[in-house]
Amino acid sequence: QTCLLIGAPVDSGKARQGCLMGPDAYRVAGLDDALTSLGHTVKDLGNLAPAQVAPLKGLPPHLHAPEVTIGWTQALVNAAENAMARGLPIFLGGDHSLSLGSVAGVANHAAAHSRPQFVLWLDAHSDFHTPQSTTSGNLHGTPLAYVTGQKGFSDFPEMQNPIPEDHICILGLRSVDPAEREILQNSRIRSHDMRQIDESGIAKPLSAFLDRVADAGGMLHVSLDVDFLDPSFAPAVGTTVPGGATMREAHLVMEMICDSGLMTSLDLVELNPFLDERGRTAQVMVDLAASALGRRVFDRPTQAFG
Ligand code: ARG
Ligand code: MN
Ligand code: MN
Ligand code: MN
Repeated sequence: QTCLLIGAPVDSGKARQGCLMGPDAYRVAGLDDALTSLGHTVKDLGNLAPAQVAPLKGLPPHLHAPEVTIGWTQALVNAAENAMARGLPIFLGGDHSLSLGSVAGVANHAAAHSRPQFVLWLDAHSDFHTPQSTTSGNLHGTPLAYVTGQKGFSDFPEMQNPIPEDHICILGLRSVDPAEREILQNSRIRSHDMRQIDESGIAKPLSAFLDRVADAGGMLHVSLDVDFLDPSFAPAVGTTVPGGATMREAHLVMEMICDSGLMTSLDLVELNPFLDERGRTAQVMVDLAASALGRRVFDRPTQAFG
């Protein structure tokens, strides 16, 4: 595969700064070499910059830096659309507000090729707020609402090809705000919280979703938020929630994605290197990306016992 590394140092999606250092942390942690050694062609396209957006009136006043996130969304839609024609884009975040643009862009590409677009959201949070419903004012809590075409994003680039709700699967949920909870419960998004993962294992809901994508001949965008992972081994994120996916669950998810052959684009989001411990979270994210793109112990199916 041709993997395109697209740096998106988006830091406007919440008040706490630091995610802008994410793309370089992934580079220092050796993402390029890791993927090259798996036989991929890797092109680092450098970092994007947001489009300039003049101050806007009429937006909810508690929103944090909406013009900056709108500018990033414009830049990312274009970058994602262009990259899809050339290979498999890996968006190096940056906070999760970058997915407003990355998902919108890949969805445009899929629509142009008459392919259904699916999204796998690996996150402690559902990120299903609108600019009106968010109480924090942090737009990194809104991308899934935007990409499904919810109302309330009128100052943002229009979501031209909204993702149908039943094309979305969320794994890892353990922090959902009341306003999100209501909408999610009544939506056709497949939402799997940690309790369900504890009961069924993580492979079951994931393979059901991957089967659906395969049956539909779909494209699959994977959005990996650092806080999907348990903070004990992925501390470098501003929104840690205890009780997350283990290292083994996370690698299993990535290996199953790889085996499916379905992934067409990937976000690595919410890494805040300022909060990291000797780069360990950046390293975990690089290792997970490598698992999603083919790294494994044996290059043959797991052997039967005895
Ligand atoms: N729901 C919370 C909020 O709206 C947390 C969102 C966290 N999102 C994230 N991408 N880490 O502020
Ligand atoms: Mn194309
Ligand atoms: Mn998120
Ligand atoms: Mn999150």
